[in-house]
Amino acid sequence: MPHLALRGGEPVLKKQLPPVITIGQEEKDAAMRVLDRGVLSDFVGARIDKFLGGVEVKRLEEAMCAFFGVRHAVSTNSATTALHAALVALEIGPGDEVIVTPYTMSATVAAILMNGAIPVFADIDERTFCIDPWSIRQCISDRTKAIMVVNLFGGVADFEAIREIAREENLKIIEDNAQSPLARYRGKLAGNLGDVGVFSFNVHKIMQCGEGGVLVTDNQEYAFRAQLARNHGEVYVDQSPELANTVILGSNYRMSEIHAAIAYEQLQKLELFTKKKLELIDHLSRGLKGIPGLVLPYVPSDVEHVFYVYPMRILESFGIKRDVFVDAMAAEGFPMSKGYTKPFYLMPILQNRRVFNTTHFPFEGSHYNKKITYLKGLCPVAERMYESEFTFTMICQYPRTIADVDLFVTAVHKILEYKNEL
Ligand SMILES: Cc1ncc(COP(=O)(O)O)c(C=O)c1O
Repeated sequence: MPHLALRGGEPVLKKQLPPVITIGQEEKDAAMRVLDRGVLSDFVGARIDKFLGGVEVKRLEEAMCAFFGVRHAVSTNSATTALHAALVALEIGPGDEVIVTPYTMSATVAAILMNGAIPVFADIDERTFCIDPWSIRQCISDRTKAIMVVNLFGGVADFEAIREIAREENLKIIEDNAQSPLARYRGKLAGNLGDVGVFSFNVHKIMQCGEGGVLVTDNQEYAFRAQLARNHGEVYVDQSPELANTVILGSNYRMSEIHAAIAYEQLQKLELFTKKKLELIDHLSRGLKGIPGLVLPYVPSDVEHVFYVYPMRILESFGIKRDVFVDAMAAEGFPMSKGYTKPFYLMPILQNRRVFNTTHFPFEGSHYNKKITYLKGLCPVAERMYESEFTFTMICQYPRTIADVDLFVTAVHKILEYKNEL
């Protein structure tokens, strides 16, 4: 009789874990408050008071400022649109290069392309999975305008080194903090470590309102440009003679009142969610400690990690290939990731260099008299993570329990014990 569920044995998890639900009475009351008021969005795309949205949107933005110690917050309907607005805020467009990690959710890089700018890929640090400052330096050219830093998996990138490069080369830093709210770098909250930071409130994130995002910055000019990007800024400009020379094409990136009211309540619970999750993370690390070839998360001494996911690496000495192990864990009842995301440049959009219909814009044209290529091998560490080493679990997501984590650990040890069945 086989033991492993992958071979027909009994799975460790007898029935699926319930879905992760973090919505409580507070969020329900908040949504009802908005519905009772009957004003589900209070934005108008013109130069009047309502240009900046309704009471719930403003309340969330004030709370974000107070919580993250930042002067300006601009809510949006996703982090993707907030990232796009961040590039608009910094006036980054055709002919400009932005240095970015290829190992991220696609929106980070898509935002660069949406602005007609060129992504230039720096490799990642295999310990933190965040962009490697050494590799950033190799990517700098006279076209470079900004570095897009992603704080991945709940960790924080090496900001000291990145800031030094930005200072020396006169570059802006956009911080994609979608996965790391409440993480800290040298005691300072992530999200406010660069020129503009972005948070996500999508359904998978630590705080969620379904779909939503927030851009934060200490710079008033950037905040204003982000507000223009969010809400049909070309109309606002038309109504403002003093802005006649402002170049802006706005859109509708506005957050609804219901989403803002729910996001506000989730922000109040961020510390609780994180504390509970970190207890489970600690328990999981103890359960997995000492397994040869299984590299547990590395947290630099100046980082407070919030573990959006629990990242691991599987080396040859583990004795089971990553994909086989992930299949075996899934059969035991615990889905895990096979490599996170394909390095962005390996996707057809950049392999074919086709972003806008049949043209090769923004890679070719009089605005960009260079040749950029996106060959396999460009970022070997990111490729290795994707192809063979990296995996993660979300078993520690609040409100899972110690008992759930114990079952996960049991499944890992069971697979190792019966690996001859694989
Ligand atoms: C690193 C990162 N950036 C950006 C996004 C986009 O967030 P949203 O879904 O709110 O647009 C995500 C979402 O998964 C993400 O993980």
